[in-house]
Amino acid sequence: MAHDTGPHAARPSGLVGKQVAGYRIEREVGRGGMAVVYRAKDLRLDRTVALKLLAPELARNDTFRKRFTYESRVAAAIDHPHIVPVFEAGETDGVLYIAMRYVAGRDLRHLLDKEGPLAITTATRIAAQVASALDAAHDHGLVHRDVKPGNILVAAGTDSDHPEHVYLTDFGLTKKSLSLTGFTTVGQFVGTLDYVAPEQISGRPVDGRCDVYSLACVVYETLAGGPPFQRDDDMALLWAHQYDVPPAVSGQRPDLAPGVDGVLAKALAKSPDDRYGSCLAFVAALRAAVVGEPERAWAPPLPPAWARPVFPGGPEPEGRERLP
Ligand SMILES: Nc1ncnc2c1ncn2[C@@H]1O[C@H](COP(=O)(O)OP(=O)(O)O)[C@@H](O)[C@H]1O
Ligand SMILES: [Mg+2]
Repeated sequence: MAHDTGPHAARPSGLVGKQVAGYRIEREVGRGGMAVVYRAKDLRLDRTVALKLLAPELARNDTFRKRFTYESRVAAAIDHPHIVPVFEAGETDGVLYIAMRYVAGRDLRHLLDKEGPLAITTATRIAAQVASALDAAHDHGLVHRDVKPGNILVAAGTDSDHPEHVYLTDFGLTKKSLSLTGFTTVGQFVGTLDYVAPEQISGRPVDGRCDVYSLACVVYETLAGGPPFQRDDDMALLWAHQYDVPPAVSGQRPDLAPGVDGVLAKALAKSPDDRYGSCLAFVAALRAAVVGEPERAWAPPLPPAWARPVFPGGPEPEGRERLP
């Protein structure tokens, strides 16, 4: 690497064509709150990789350094067909990097921005793959904490039965001690708040069920075209996650079987205890609802207002409010 163009001295876009550690940077593929991701060539093995570099201005921030290092270890520890494999992580010239499989395709954020709501079959296929990745992470005692469309990479699948192969990436928020509130108190970028679970907001302990909530927000968006809560400012959005009832998806997608609303309501329950116990249990219930099967394993103690039957002239069920 030329000394006057080291990554810590250069703007990220200035790195194209340069060598970082053993990698030659080919082009920028995306950037998030704490890193820039490049397509690069591993010069030792002559293979294409995705090279993630910590934003230079954050490299000296201990919190971010720890999170970045932890992300690489966590992701490398899990061998799963729907989790992006990590090849190497390290530090060069004061810049932290992580090399992982380059996933040709788009992330779900771009897909939704371009194509809008997805067909229910596509949405459930994608959800099932992300769910299996998350449940595997949970089996390793790891909580992802940042499930969002930008962290779901959609590559071409193998055949018409599997039109897409989905990878979950970015375990940067998995460290249990780095709570959402921890990040906000140091005044750093947290990322989108569209998918964050109520217990993450209030700083309560989180487990895999916070990923159930976030996955449900993502599934909701793939069906409705937007996340469950859309508010003008962050405070209102955080409030909505904690206290507001998500609007029924069937209001925006009349083609959906009515049972889908109840499944999403359960996955989006404010209390983790009221949610599905795993991501795959959520997706199984979603699939059953889509084909109109009654959900056998679970009956809601208090169905959301939109799901309850209305008997003309009959008494209002106790404890339930009438919605306009
Ligand atoms: N392994 C990968 N292969 C291809 N593209 C990737 C890979 N990892 C990340 N990307 C792309 O880089 C973008 C930025 O990633 P990241 O820094 O994690 O930010 P964010 O997750 O907030 O979007 C992602 O949205 C994705 O489009
Ligand atoms: Mg990411």
